[in-house]
Amino acid sequence: MKIAHLGIAVKNLADALAPYEALLGGHDVHRETVEDQGVAVAMLPVGESHIELLEPTRPDSPIAKFLASRGEGLHHVCFEVDDIEAELARLKASGVRLIDQLPRAGANGCRVAFIHPKSTSGVLIELSQPMTSRD
Ligand code: CO
Repeated sequence: MKIAHLGIAVKNLADALAPYEALLGGHDVHRETVEDQGVAVAMLPVGESHIELLEPTRPDSPIAKFLASRGEGLHHVCFEVDDIEAELARLKASGVRLIDQLPRAGANGCRVAFIHPKSTSGVLIELSQPMTSRD
């Protein structure tokens, strides 16, 4: 397992991108809208991991709700896994509270699932299985 990315909730992607591009070099920035989660995403590489900036695309998206209650800032930590179904089953059997019982579509063709922050000391955890390790 490794840290795939750190997700940061932002009000405006263009405004947020400039300082992060200055910080990280601004090369290979991947942008995408994930309709399922109501977010526009910008992924900035940093070593083997990424910084994921998240702007809500609709008022009922989880990121919009997060911004309304907590403001901009660190939203989640994402761990990359090889077999997301197996990880979810293992966590469930260990009594860890899951938000997603089944994986759903994430950015970059990944399949993702979230663990409830009540189980992880207040930090929202995302598990992500890359498209490439599916076969
Ligand atoms: Co994420």
